[in-house]
Amino acid sequence: MCVKILGTGRSMPDKCLTNDDIAKIVDTSDEWIKSRVGIETRHIAENETTTSMAADAAKKALIRAKVNAEDIELIIVASVTGDNAVPATACQVQDIIGATNAMAFDINSACAGFDVALNTVIAYFGAGIYKTALIIGAETLSGIVDWEDRSTCVLFGDGAGAAVVQYSEDGLADFIQGADGGRGAALNKPNAPVKNPFKKGTDKETGLYMDGQAVFKFAVKTVPQCIEELLKKNNLEKDDIKYYIIHQANKRIIQSVAKRMCESEDKFPSNVSKYGNTSGASIPILLDEMNENKMLNPGDKIILCGFGGGLSWGATLIKW
Ligand code: ACO
Repeated sequence: MCVKILGTGRSMPDKCLTNDDIAKIVDTSDEWIKSRVGIETRHIAENETTTSMAADAAKKALIRAKVNAEDIELIIVASVTGDNAVPATACQVQDIIGATNAMAFDINSACAGFDVALNTVIAYFGAGIYKTALIIGAETLSGIVDWEDRSTCVLFGDGAGAAVVQYSEDGLADFIQGADGGRGAALNKPNAPVKNPFKKGTDKETGLYMDGQAVFKFAVKTVPQCIEELLKKNNLEKDDIKYYIIHQANKRIIQSVAKRMCESEDKFPSNVSKYGNTSGASIPILLDEMNENKMLNPGDKIILCGFGGGLSWGATLIKW
């Protein structure tokens, strides 16, 4: 069983915030942010929404894939910041792009979301249910961060990335994934408190909370572990892999993962300096930039790896 990525696309908000811009809002500095997480700028939605960026990225991916929207059978949007509780962002995208024959739903697997969406598609393909799918990671994290908390608001950005994926005999697809809800408090954003005529008192809505060191330790341990498990499962060596396209959480996490795996940092492409952490959108945005820059050749084996809130993670092996 195998999948091919036929086309990719991305959509970033027009507004670009530098670290100096953020230093006007909270007590931080360009030097602190660059040295701790390697972020220089991030894009922040003003006129864009999660849905508009998701649909824009999807349209670009369809054009590059040379696939008509009517031929898409499944749309999955990975997001923790959909514009509405109902309908799903995927259903809104279906309407905007005219994918009238597609089933559409969202998944919430935070920064692992795009990878989990791809794994879900692989499972559907493997079961013979669908053959052509559109997967999207789209986030407006600027709407859920606490803009008074300097330890988190400097990290995140908004954006969307998409990929058109098709079943293929001549390909490769395998994955592993996991979750540990017991450690979920390390990265947490409660929804608005329940209000109804029977509930006593009024709870205050709270912003995103992150235990940075716990997340850091989780990431640098789990990412190498699950990549190495996936390689072993497929009888592959690290030399067989052209690139590891891992969630763009921050530069130090990426560097530590490369070091722990005794791999060159060159095999871990990164754009976190430009976009910050865009959660479920980071992998498809990076994949689209790599595709645009012709960094991938037919037959290249790559591993995508997402990790984050839940806690949850996934690694996927595919052939370009
Ligand atoms: N500017 C200036 N100072 C800051 C800032 C800031 N933006 N943020 C925190 N500080 C200060 C703290 O207040 C603290 O000051 P103090 O010593 O006077 O109390 C000091 O810097 C050190 O704070 P720590 O939290 O201990 O800093 P740490 O070395 O752990 O670095 C960081 C924080 C960069 C967040 C690190 O923990 C990390 O990389 N964690 C991974 C988290 C991550 O990337 N999450 C992304 C979301 S989850 C995901 O995508 C998987």
